[in-house]
Amino acid sequence: MARVPNLTLNNGVTIPQLGFGVFQVPQAETQRVVEEALEVGYRHIDTAAAYGNEAGVGAAIAASGVPRDEIFITTKLRNGEHGTATEAFEASRRALGVEVIDLYLIHWPVPSQGLFVEAWLAMEKIYGADGARAIGVSNFLGDHLDTLLAETTVVPAVNQVELHPTFQQAALSAECRDHAIAVEAYSPLGRGADLDAAAVTAMAQSRGITPAQVVLGWHLGRGNIVIPKSTHPDRMRENLATTEITLGRDELDAITGLDSGARIGTDPAKAAFTQM
Ligand code: A2P
Repeated sequence: MARVPNLTLNNGVTIPQLGFGVFQVPQAETQRVVEEALEVGYRHIDTAAAYGNEAGVGAAIAASGVPRDEIFITTKLRNGEHGTATEAFEASRRALGVEVIDLYLIHWPVPSQGLFVEAWLAMEKIYGADGARAIGVSNFLGDHLDTLLAETTVVPAVNQVELHPTFQQAALSAECRDHAIAVEAYSPLGRGADLDAAAVTAMAQSRGITPAQVVLGWHLGRGNIVIPKSTHPDRMRENLATTEITLGRDELDAITGLDSGARIGTDPAKAAFTQM
């Protein structure tokens, strides 16, 4: 089975660098998909209250027979619950059927709502009470991080953001690293689009690996935490096997050269969907 490297977060907690994301996996399919991911060897599962599939993740973990302390679970606070984070956290714990969440994130800053500092203060209490082993944020831009760092005590362990070869967020990544905030990449394959880049397909061919392994190998080489998703066990295996591949400096640089600054998902400065 693949050996996934652990990264150490700023509070000493370790996280498997490559995990399995369940964004857009329908609740009805989630238990099967997560059971398959655990069977294939993933030990880090990333979900969110807003995905509506925490219960499926919890059911898979319970059915898998894998000891709870061998699985790293991330979930996230919904946008509409920034003012009620304590209750939202309890609901996530119940849905997942676990006592402790390994990493609890604010899903989006929703600056128009103006409540992310309040949410963070509640999360600091959850962390202080050992409900979560680490707390962090997602989709935070530099000014959101600056506000949090100025007005609160616990430095986020992680900022999970859209990040892939054609959208690398170099300035934001540098700011995170300056504050010892680990960078976690969502949509690490650019929702599949970055797999078709000529530099990626050429490297895949010359190395005898797949385009997804080139892109995930680039993330691992850059030190990103990465959470690819696939509903297909063969692709789950292929993605996990990236941990056996090390790209050289020139190879990493060739993929870094693909940055176009083009975001695929929603701009966090504008995202205001509170139904999530
Ligand atoms: P599928 O679930 O049908 O396997 P991202 O993580 O950047 O959002 O990309 C996810 C998309 O990439 C999904 O559509 C997924 O499709 C696809 N995908 C995941 N792993 C691979 C892979 N190894 N090769 C090709 N496509 C993949």
